[in-house]
Order: sequence, then structure tokens, then C-alpha cells
Amino acid sequence: MLVNILFNLLLFIVIVNSIKIPFINNTILKPTFSSNSIIIQNHTCKQCLCMLNSSYIALNCFPNNTCQFFYTFPNTYQIQTIPTARLYFPKQIYPNASQCCMPDTQSLLNKLNTAIPTYASVPSPRCLILDNHGYLVTVSQTNNSLVRFYSTNLTIVSQPPSPNFPDSPLNLAFYNDAYYVGFEYFILVIDSNNFTLLHNITTSSLSGTRDMIFLNNGQMMVVASTDNAFLLFFNRSNIVSTNYTFVYQQSVSYTNPHGLWYINDTSFYVTSWGNNAIYSYSAKKNSTLWTEKLLLNAGPIAPSPYGSHLTIDGCKRYWFSLGTYDVLIFDSYGLFLGNITQTNYTVFHAIIANNYVVYLSDNQFNRIIRIDPNIQC
Ligand SMILES: *[C@@H]1O[C@H](CO)[C@@H](O)[C@H](O)[C@H]1NC(C)=O
Ligand SMILES: *[C@@H]1O[C@H](CO)[C@@H](O)[C@H](O)[C@H]1NC(C)=O
Ligand SMILES: *[C@@H]1O[C@H](CO)[C@@H](O)[C@H](O)[C@H]1NC(C)=O
Ligand SMILES: *[C@@H]1O[C@H](CO)[C@@H](O)[C@H](O)[C@H]1NC(C)=O
Ligand SMILES: *[C@@H]1O[C@H](CO)[C@@H](O)[C@H](O)[C@H]1NC(C)=O
Ligand SMILES: *[C@@H]1O[C@H](CO)[C@@H](O)[C@H](O)[C@H]1NC(C)=O
Ligand SMILES: *[C@@H]1O[C@H](CO)[C@@H](O)[C@H](O)[C@H]1NC(C)=O
Ligand SMILES: *[C@@H]1O[C@H](CO)[C@@H](O)[C@H](O)[C@H]1NC(C)=O
Ligand SMILES: *[C@@H]1O[C@H](CO)[C@@H](O)[C@H](O)[C@H]1NC(C)=O
Ligand SMILES: *[C@@H]1O[C@H](CO)[C@@H](O)[C@H](O)[C@H]1NC(C)=O
Ligand SMILES: *[C@@H]1O[C@H](CO)[C@@H](O)[C@H](O)[C@H]1NC(C)=O
Ligand SMILES: *[C@@H]1O[C@H](CO)[C@@H](O)[C@H](O)[C@H]1NC(C)=O
Repeated sequence: MLVNILFNLLLFIVIVNSIKIPFINNTILKPTFSSNSIIIQNHTCKQCLCMLNSSYIALNCFPNNTCQFFYTFPNTYQIQTIPTARLYFPKQIYPNASQCCMPDTQSLLNKLNTAIPTYASVPSPRCLILDNHGYLVTVSQTNNSLVRFYSTNLTIVSQPPSPNFPDSPLNLAFYNDAYYVGFEYFILVIDSNNFTLLHNITTSSLSGTRDMIFLNNGQMMVVASTDNAFLLFFNRSNIVSTNYTFVYQQSVSYTNPHGLWYINDTSFYVTSWGNNAIYSYSAKKNSTLWTEKLLLNAGPIAPSPYGSHLTIDGCKRYWFSLGTYDVLIFDSYGLFLGNITQTNYTVFHAIIANNYVVYLSDNQFNRIIRIDPNIQC
């Protein structure tokens, strides 16, 4: 890691009380999960440097007179650019490469498959998202509603009451404080703070709205149109808007494109509900032609449908929600690693929150499931 840091950033030395302290300008160490550190406010960086002693291995100086002293390096972190911030290494010791949380899949699955789940009843729940309030949100396909839960205990958030939709919601995405609810032929954009209906997005080739993702900081929305096997691309009218207009489409080579997963602005993945496979798409910047490739075929292990959604975790494991096969987990080369087996779920969507709290929607048995493996990352 030291080598990486030195290659990417310039390391300098400051002398405090005749001790040489290496530092990096415009940079902080950002733990991904909890960390063994303390935060001190209302102190300038100079004052914080004077407080350094042998207890501390690293110091972040934020631009707002806030300092973070690390006793040990977090296992999982990012090196983040913040103008005028500084990162110090008082002991001239540098962190190892950032690790993912729970790289040992079997140990993680043992914990998930033996933890006691929490359940909540919802008639035919579909997609799951965690929103800006920290709520777990789904749509009920049979109640035509949006359902929000406190994510820690799956108690329903009842106020304000959910809008009653004129039709069955089929998909749910979240971006910039708005819920994007997909129906057969249109997408409703709803303010996540007060349920105000912001937009009704549609186009003639939208047939069976499934997943939506956002590229280029929300400038482009990609929508899976499952019935006619198209990917549809919409452009945002202006930077503050949630109004998207159709710009182009691309047909896919398989049936029922369904779940989408964002990789970066020039790459994303699509699951096939019909084939139980995952396809990758990549394009040159600003190109409207996406190159499709088969990435992973779960068919040999899960021969019957339905490959509904993909979630990729920090260890680059692929959590593929496959209906009656529950969730099958693959590595990034497509090798099958294991599955979630606690009970007879029929998983429509699985998402992963901090410390590997897993949320599952069980469309057939009308429930949401929360599994907390009690891990501290
Ligand atoms: C920081 O200092 C200001 C002014 O000296 C004071 O009003 C404020 O309460 C302090 N904040 C904290 C968190 O100590
Ligand atoms: C370092 O300073 C902190 C308070 O600033 C103090 O609690 C700690 O005991 C000191 N450690 C050593 C080894 O002096
Ligand atoms: C100072 O900035 C850091 C990093 O942006 C932020 O986490 C923290 O809340 C800020 N502190 C105050 C008192 O504004
Ligand atoms: C780091 O940034 C400070 C301003 O925040 C600047 O005065 C100093 O020259 C920079 N140091 C290096 C080594 O670039
Ligand atoms: C669930 O969690 C929320 C938020 O933490 C809390 O307000 C609520 O009282 C909890 N409900 C139950 C039944 O524990
Ligand atoms: C809904 O909340 C947004 C802020 O999130 C606000 O701008 C808007 O005016 C609110 N609309 C209504 C009808 O209260
Ligand atoms: C959204 O637009 C579609 C197509 O124009 C229309 O059929 C549908 O009723 C509209 N939905 C709502 C809730 O306005
Ligand atoms: C959304 O954008 C389209 C095209 O720019 C425009 O025709 C339409 O009126 C806009 N809708 C709203 C509600 O602003
Ligand atoms: C985007 O992701 C793809 C697939 O992982 C990768 O090949 C490509 O280099 C990435 N592009 C950028 C700009 O990071
Ligand atoms: C790509 O699109 C962006 C936004 O539409 C535009 O600002 C940029 O100039 C385009 N780049 C190229 C190489 O066409
Ligand atoms: C899921 O795991 C269980 C228990 O380890 C195993 O019996 C089952 O065959 C696995 N499912 C698949 C599709 O491999
Ligand atoms: C799971 O399987 C048991 C026994 O096979 C069955 O009684 C039950 O209805 C199934 N579904 C759920 C949600 O437990």
C-alpha cells in the first residue's frame, strides 16, 4: 500500500518537536466501517500535531478544524481527496492494502445461515433499497403501495401514508432523494421526503419496466424493458431535474433483461430472468453502442428461472437472487462459492448493508427478511 500511496500521491515530511512526520496534502484516510479512532473538534491541525504521542498511528486533519486520531489502521478504508485536508503518519508506519470485510466466504455464510432472522409481512414484495432516511423500502405488487421500514427492526414507518398506485408496481430504484417506481408502461418519480409525485416517465418502447440505474452522476438513466428485451436510455433534462426523456434503445440477445448493477459510467451488468445468466455491457465514453458479453451463467446450478437481481459486495462476490434457488454466491470469475440456505426462501432481491446485514424480499411468501450475522467490519 505504501508503494501505491507513494506512486499516486506525494509524501512530504513536517518536523514537529524535532520529530519527522510524513504527510500527504489534500488527503484523508476514510475507514469503510467502524474504526479504532477518536475525533476531536475545534482544534487546528497545528494543535492536533502537538497532541500526537506514541498512541497514534495516523492523523486526519479535516478543513473544518476537526481531527481524527487513529490508534490502529482500519482493515477496510479508502484514501480520499479533500482539498486542504492532510493525512499524517506520525510513526512512519503505513497501512496495508485495504481488505474487504469477511473475505472468507464459508465463515460469512456460516454466520448468515445460523443467525436468527427478523421477518416483516408485505404482500408480494419486490425490489429492496435503503434510502436517504436509512429506511428499508420495497413495493408491494399486490397492494399497489410503497412500504418503508426502520431498517434495524423492520417496523413499518407509517407516516406519511404510502401513495396508492393505480397499477401494480414492478420495480423500485432510488437516486438523489427520489424513488423511481416502475410499472408496466411507465415510471413514477416520487420525492422520498413527502411522497410528492415529481414525474411520470414513459416512452413507446417501454414494456415491462424492470431495474433502473443512473450513469454520469444521474445524467443518464438506463432501464430494463423486460417484455420486449430492450435496454432503454433516458437523458435528464437539466441538472436539478428528475425529468428524464428517452434518447435511444438497444436490444439484448436473451429473454427478459431484469436486474441492473452499476459498475462505472462505461460499464454495467444485466441479469436475465429467463436464462439465469448475467451479461456485461461496456461502451466508449459518450457512445450509444454498448458491447454485450456473457459474464456468468448460473443455469448449470439453477436450471429453472428466475434470475431477478444481482448485488456485488466489497469482496467482489456476486450475490445472484434466483427465486426458488434463493441467493447463489459466485466469485468474479463465475465460480460458485455457496448459498444462503436458512429456510425455504424464494428470493426476489437480496441487498447487503454495513457489517453484512442482509435483507431479502420473498415475493412468494409475502415477507421481508433481515439477517444480521453480527459481524464488525
Ligand atoms: C467550538 O468553538 C466555538 C467557539 O469557540 C464554540 O461556540 C463551540 O461550542 C465549540 N464546539 C465544540 C464542539 O466544542
Ligand atoms: C496520548 O494522549 C492521550 C490524550 O491526548 C492520552 O489519553 C494517552 O494516554 C497518551 N498516550 C501516551 C502513550 O502517552
Ligand atoms: C468536519 O468535516 C468532516 C469531514 O468532512 C465531517 O465528517 C465532520 O462532521 C465535520 N465536522 C464538523 C463539526 O462540521
Ligand atoms: C500542502 O498544502 C499547504 C496548504 O494547505 C501548502 O502550504 C504546502 O506547501 C503544501 N505542501 C506540499 C509539500 O505540497
Ligand atoms: C424500531 O426502530 C425505530 C428507529 O430506530 C424506533 O423508533 C422504533 O421504536 C422501533 N420499533 C420497535 C417496535 O422496536
Ligand atoms: C417535498 O419535499 C421537498 C424537499 O425534499 C420540497 O422541495 C417540496 O416542496 C416538498 N413538496 C411538498 C408538496 O411539500
Ligand atoms: C403516466 O403516463 C402514462 C402514459 O402516458 C399513463 O398511462 C399513466 O396513467 C400515467 N400515470 C400516472 C400515475 O399519472
Ligand atoms: C419533461 O421533459 C420533457 C422534454 O424536455 C418536457 O416535454 C416535459 O414537459 C417535462 N415534464 C415536466 C413535468 O417538466
Ligand atoms: C469500468 O469497468 C470496466 C469493467 O470492470 C473496466 O474494464 C473499465 O476499465 C472501467 N472504466 C473506468 C473508466 O473505470
Ligand atoms: C460527452 O458528453 C458530455 C455531456 O453530454 C459532453 O460534455 C462531452 O463533451 C462529451 N464528450 C465527448 C468526447 O464527446
Ligand atoms: C445450498 O447449500 C445447501 C447447504 O450447504 C446445499 O445442500 C444446497 O445444495 C445448496 N444449493 C445449491 C444450489 O447448490
Ligand atoms: C417452507 O417449508 C415448509 C415445510 O416444507 C412449509 O410448511 C412452509 O409453508 C414453507 N414456507 C415457509 C415460508 O416457511
